[in-house]
Amino acid sequence: MVYLKTPEEIEKMERASTLASRSLGELAKWIAPGVTTLRLEQIVREFIYDNGGRPACLGYGGFPAAVCYEVNEVVVHGFPSNYTLREGDIIGTDIVVDVDGFNGDMCYTFPVGDIAPEVMALCRTTKESLYKGIEMAREGNRIGDISNAIQRYCESRGYSVVREMCGHGIGREMHEDPEIPNYGRARTGMMIRNGMCLAIEPMINLGKRQVVIERDGWTCRTRDRQPSAHYEHTCAIVDGTACPLTTFSYIEEALGERYI
Ligand code: MF3
Ligand code: CO
Repeated sequence: MVYLKTPEEIEKMERASTLASRSLGELAKWIAPGVTTLRLEQIVREFIYDNGGRPACLGYGGFPAAVCYEVNEVVVHGFPSNYTLREGDIIGTDIVVDVDGFNGDMCYTFPVGDIAPEVMALCRTTKESLYKGIEMAREGNRIGDISNAIQRYCESRGYSVVREMCGHGIGREMHEDPEIPNYGRARTGMMIRNGMCLAIEPMINLGKRQVVIERDGWTCRTRDRQPSAHYEHTCAIVDGTACPLTTFSYIEEALGERYI
């Protein structure tokens, strides 16, 4: 079931999305060699509560944290732990914040210090593919146009697209219809309409596309243990085109020239 949002509801989506964006902007200040992901979790949880939000991932299907931590080969749904970030790591932070009953969902993959050029290129391409997808999210297009744009952009550069996880509609629920795969055929799938709110989130691997779920039942990593990158925005379809409700600008400000 797709729930088209009214302008008032989109305004609420925007408030949740802005807090999600500011929360990752706060995390951006702390991501450095020597920091544990548990420390990041403490910081972000406090920030969300202090600013009137609820961390929607915490307790969702039993997930134990406000943010998913995706270090190197972790694709999605990693737990915070005593793992200490090291120079050369990448870390994706995927957050969902609920404000006043509506959700904002976003993800950013950070470099930790200096990273290998091929890993930097993976991150850049993944982020660019997100914007390629967003460009195709307009009234009259279909979901497959978003999927196909992301797949073509990444595969033509030699990367592989994770099949098991998708983007999604979003609103009062974190996950609503439609599903938005990061691969597929143009001109197929559901028609895109004004009032849709879509979380678009390419998950792209440096090596092969296959993934495995660890024994904790959540952590999803690449089978070949090569790195994976992940960027996500929540968007609303307004006046025919996708308007991103989340932003990387707070992150950009905090990172300065380390910005991907
Ligand atoms: N934010 C992620 C998504 O885009 C996943 C949420 S993790 C969960 O779907 F634990 F809440 F499931
Ligand atoms: Co999402």
